[in-house]
Amino acid sequence: MAEAHKAVSGTWATRWTFILAATGSAVGLGNIWKFPYITGEYGGGAFVLVYLACIAVVGIPIMMSEVLIGRHARRNPINAMGDLAVESGSTRAWSLVGWMGVLAGFLILSFYSVIAGWALNYTADIGMGLFNGVNAEQTGKMFGDLTSNPGRLIFWHSLFMILTAIIIARGIHKGLENSVRIMMPALFVLLLVMVGYSVTSTDKFGEGLQFLFAFDFSKLTGEAILVAMGHAFFTLSLGMGAIMTYGAYMPKQASIGGTVLTIAVLDTLVALVAGMAIFPIVFANGLEAGAGPGLLFVSLPQAFGSMAGGQIFGTIFFLLVSIAALSSAISLIEPAVAYIVQQHNVSRLTATICFSLIVWLLGLGTVFSFNIWSEVKLFDKNFFDLLDFLTANIMLPLGGLLISIFAGWILKRSVVLNELAMQNLVRFNTWRAAARVFSPLAVLVIFVTTLYKAFS
Ligand code: PFF
Ligand code: NA
Repeated sequence: MAEAHKAVSGTWATRWTFILAATGSAVGLGNIWKFPYITGEYGGGAFVLVYLACIAVVGIPIMMSEVLIGRHARRNPINAMGDLAVESGSTRAWSLVGWMGVLAGFLILSFYSVIAGWALNYTADIGMGLFNGVNAEQTGKMFGDLTSNPGRLIFWHSLFMILTAIIIARGIHKGLENSVRIMMPALFVLLLVMVGYSVTSTDKFGEGLQFLFAFDFSKLTGEAILVAMGHAFFTLSLGMGAIMTYGAYMPKQASIGGTVLTIAVLDTLVALVAGMAIFPIVFANGLEAGAGPGLLFVSLPQAFGSMAGGQIFGTIFFLLVSIAALSSAISLIEPAVAYIVQQHNVSRLTATICFSLIVWLLGLGTVFSFNIWSEVKLFDKNFFDLLDFLTANIMLPLGGLLISIFAGWILKRSVVLNELAMQNLVRFNTWRAAARVFSPLAVLVIFVTTLYKAFS
């Protein structure tokens, strides 16, 4: 007999609250730090095109699936998948998808926090004027000074984890609204200011655009396709239950399709604008597009150092990046906290402290991978690279694949039709074809071909 699990109490007042929370989760380091650096590593244009295709074909349908599962079950991902599976005549083993998501969230947050710590460090350093008048060579050296110093990295990583824990412990509702409603648009405006700087103060804007949008398919390796797909999941916070958790609070009358489309478009816009701000500065200063995780931190600070008002703009910019990271970080750990609180009656505070400590400890691996463990490698990847690859390119797509199959094949058509509330049956059938066949198939094909190539 299936045990009934407690549903969450109360729903957020409006569709907007869900949009704000989900956008807060989606928009973060993935857009401003990761998208530019992997685009640089994998050669630009063609990689961007595959990424955009993955957002459309895989990301949007799967995001709809996550939201509808969460809203229909109104509980945390582990119980949502398990209970709905049993109700639909399938096995409770589907809750394993929720468990994998919880694990993925811990692993991602462990390195996410370290990188967010870099942003905090830059907020302070630019604020103190340390970057005034620097050239590109100096920003490279200053970035190296930071990452080679475990103590400094641990300090900022700890501070970021403490901030995350405070918000989680108080309940994510408070604070989230302001952060997304005011800070996110401000971040977007500052990114546009930086695009303006790139247009007016470098003569490389055209080159930057060309790099982002000229589709040179000769650069497109199997690994690049896998990474582009993995990033579509990472940037939309898909495949691990974060969006499902927020979906549990979405009011019944809100349209899932329209809401999801809004979030995906906003997220994509932020990433593309970040790329347009960063690459012209990269090319104008003779920096390496494939410089790796440091790309954001060696390019923009040089621009802040040389532009009028740059000290203030730069400080605010990295502060806003930190806040965007914070609103993503809370969604990485909230599914686990929601599960423990709903299922085992542990207090929110206890759950938060325990989980944060685990994540903090794991984060030390990432800290050391930039210095004392930089030569410790498995499959030619250090600890951070390995975590990043395992989560973004394997766990999230796999989770998304299973969520899609669940919404497409396990849930009854009538349940899903009612939840999506689409008047237009063509649209509904399009989503359903994607959920049942096209999205899972796309993920599978990319998995199989990449792994086949890796082992042959
Ligand atoms: N979407 C976030 C970003 O782009 O920075 C990262 C993220 C948050 C990934 C939450 C996964 C997740 F569940
Ligand atoms: Na994102």
